[in-house]
Amino acid sequence: MISMSENTTRSRGEMVPFMLNGAEVLADPTWNLLEAIKFYGIDIPTLCYDEGLSPYGACRLCTVEVGSGDKTKLVASCVHPVKEGLEVHTHTKRVIKARKMILELLIARCPSSKKLQDMAALFELNEVRFKPLNYDCILCGLCVRMCEEQMGAKAIGFTGRGTKRYITTPFDMTSEECRKCGACMYICPVCELRCQGPQADTTLCSGCINTEPVCVEEYDEAMCYMVPCLSCMKGPEDVNKNNK
Ligand code: SF4
Ligand code: SF4
Ligand code: SF4
Ligand code: FES
Repeated sequence: MISMSENTTRSRGEMVPFMLNGAEVLADPTWNLLEAIKFYGIDIPTLCYDEGLSPYGACRLCTVEVGSGDKTKLVASCVHPVKEGLEVHTHTKRVIKARKMILELLIARCPSSKKLQDMAALFELNEVRFKPLNYDCILCGLCVRMCEEQMGAKAIGFTGRGTKRYITTPFDMTSEECRKCGACMYICPVCELRCQGPQADTTLCSGCINTEPVCVEEYDEAMCYMVPCLSCMKGPEDVNKNNK
């Protein structure tokens, strides 16, 4: 993650100029680049960013192109500092292509997420070339930061490495720290009812209108950390009973 300490040594209010899509604009140097871009009304897609939480730079959807001439690079704007003289382009062909590719990978990971499907429609992404993994998590870390930074609970965190990385409670056990506030579920971009369409595993469709809580069919696949579930008021024993 890129440190923003260099910029934050400047005092708030001392605006710095930078180039945004060819126009010179001013920004508070304590902002990250995403904040500065949004301040000027430009819409940038995000999945792991929330104004009330520290930026994490996980999804890379907020990618923009910085630099000029041959010396440009793609950066995640939510973890990139605003710097005096920086040249930023938010919607170049390279940026759009990169965002589409990132979204394609995320959809392959969680094909039944309504939020990702909606985003795909917005991006005019009609085809996913990667094998669907059917996970319930894009590892954006929003739930972990929400739990720690806003709820002061630290009930959940990342565990494992690489492809075995996932979110869980300490020792995968029901957490004493969890207040069952539901904030982690509220903020999760993919913790929604899954697509119930005829080919849910392989295609993007609009079949996700079934309001049955699909996650209780198998308790292991529950999409939250509440035991018993606050919404359906079922615990593992009820679910196991239903599955017999
Ligand atoms: S429900 Fe539990 S794990 Fe989720 S944010 Fe609240 S305290 Fe944290
Ligand atoms: S459970 Fe949801 S909020 Fe938490 S890391 Fe996974 S996708 Fe993000
Ligand atoms: S287990 Fe219950 S609260 Fe948790 S996601 Fe499923 S329906 Fe919602
Ligand atoms: S929103 Fe910036 S990396 Fe996810």
